Amino acid sequence: AKVTLSVIKADLGSIAGHHMPHPDQLAVATKILAEAKQKGLIIDFYVTHVGDDIQLIITHNKGPDHPDIHGLAWDAFKAATKVARELKLYAAGQDLLSEAFSGNVKGLGPGVAELEMEEREAEPVVTFHADKTEPGAFNLPLFRIFADPFNTAGLVIDPKMHDGFVFEVYDVFEGRSVLLKSPEEMYDILALIGTPGRYIVRRVYRKSDNLLAAVVSVERLNLIAGKYVGKDDPVAIVRAQHGLPAVGEILEAFSFPHLVAGWMRGSHNGPLMPVPMRYARVTRFDGPPRVIALGWNISNGRLIGPADLFDDVAFDETRRLAQNIAEYMRRHGPFMPHRLGPEEMEYTTLPAVLEKLKDRFVKSEEVKVVKKHSDMLSGS
Ligand code: 13P
Ligand code: 13P
Ligand code: MG
Ligand code: MG
Ligand code: MG
Repeated sequence: AKVTLSVIKADLGSIAGHHMPHPDQLAVATKILAEAKQKGLIIDFYVTHVGDDIQLIITHNKGPDHPDIHGLAWDAFKAATKVARELKLYAAGQDLLSEAFSGNVKGLGPGVAELEMEEREAEPVVTFHADKTEPGAFNLPLFRIFADPFNTAGLVIDPKMHDGFVFEVYDVFEGRSVLLKSPEEMYDILALIGTPGRYIVRRVYRKSDNLLAAVVSVERLNLIAGKYVGKDDPVAIVRAQHGLPAVGEILEAFSFPHLVAGWMRGSHNGPLMPVPMRYARVTRFDGPPRVIALGWNISNGRLIGPADLFDDVAFDETRRLAQNIAEYMRRHGPFMPHRLGPEEMEYTTLPAVLEKLKDRFVKSEEVKVVKKHSDMLSGS
């Protein structure tokens, strides 16, 4: 039988700001999933967190988008929210944008990545969980893992990978996607995914046999809610080895702490810092953004693991560089490019501040405006 790995996450409230969940929230979510395992609804599960986001990692035989599995996650999130309310944690139930569950958590606030697989002889998988950033944060590492031979030696050496991979790129503004082949359409892929706030690498397939190799959660909260409701804090699943990138090639893509959006008030760029689970809590300026990598083997649906993959001195220099970048970015204070650009700030509370100033502008005759910015944008 095929096995589905479902990673479903949500921020239901945190101790002291947007730092980390309370242990009782993780305990109640664990209890609910343990009961489901006992009943045979799911095969196995693991509950953890990164920053203030609770992560449910679930295996089952029901396929992606199954109402029973999504309903189970919803129940766990509701229970963790109830705890948050009782303890008066900050932002209790933050990511549950709707009260009404009707079979699927997508569009209701939680982030979802699900991968259905025919288990291979050995089935190594890495799950990534990030806080204080957005789904497009995985664009750069996924490109490097599946398309950059300077990152992934297997693209050159391994005959099974030599044909390359197919990227499904999702446009979050229009709700549509495009399939692009690497290496032949590499520049087209980059033309899109270099705008990570809009174009997100959603799935990656091996070209030779269409095997699904990676899945990313694509939910963007601000676009669902139409206003600022925290950051999307994404998850990703990547299968490894035997005709796919090695675990070491997958992790290598995170050795460069690239700048991502989502730090402080979801309104700042900062370096994505790969950390072990014990450092998966955010403090400095509510960050900096960080990501954990959990290694698993799936055995008849059982989750063997996790291996805390960034818990290695080999990533110390990456973390040190991330700290230096954090310091450098912070010194810009409220200035771009530390603060996000106007397009992304549309979904924050900044427009309310700008609105107040609108009537205080007076026409200036000193500089002749040939074409107004607003006309250029509208093309008139
Ligand atoms: P080992 O000999 O340690 O199994 O190394 C295999 C490998 O190719 C690692 O990338
Ligand atoms: P979260 O989405 O992690 O709650 O981030 C909220 C925030 O803006 C922290 O500064
Ligand atoms: Mg939060
Ligand atoms: Mg968060
Ligand atoms: Mg969030």
